[in-house]
Amino acid sequence: MQFNAAHRVHNPALSDEENRALFGKCNNPNWHGHNYTLDVFVTGAVDERTGYVIDLAKVKAIVQREVVDKVDHRNLNLEVDFMQGIIPTTENIVVAMWRAIEPHLAPGHLSRLVLWETPNNYVEYDGR
Ligand code: NI
Repeated sequence: MQFNAAHRVHNPALSDEENRALFGKCNNPNWHGHNYTLDVFVTGAVDERTGYVIDLAKVKAIVQREVVDKVDHRNLNLEVDFMQGIIPTTENIVVAMWRAIEPHLAPGHLSRLVLWETPNNYVEYDGR
């Protein structure tokens, strides 16, 4: 699923110079955006009655409601409840998204989330 969002990657515990050296363009004080893509992988037992682990339309609705609607066209530093106090690197975003989605997926479970920040870089998380 796709969304776009603004952020600034900045650690207030470090100096401005250290932040610039560490985070480069993503440390821009006046924000910037990315077009993100989130790939969601679900596992679980196949239900004998439906032949599904979980209805794909339900998965889509859960991810839309718990994550995409909260971040799309938003500022990840300022406006997103599950990102409060978290430095919005791709690593930290994907872990926060896992925590936001997983409790709602029963009887399925997340097996993997892949968050693309650009077409050239992504972070993969399997819950460990
Ligand atoms: Ni960035």
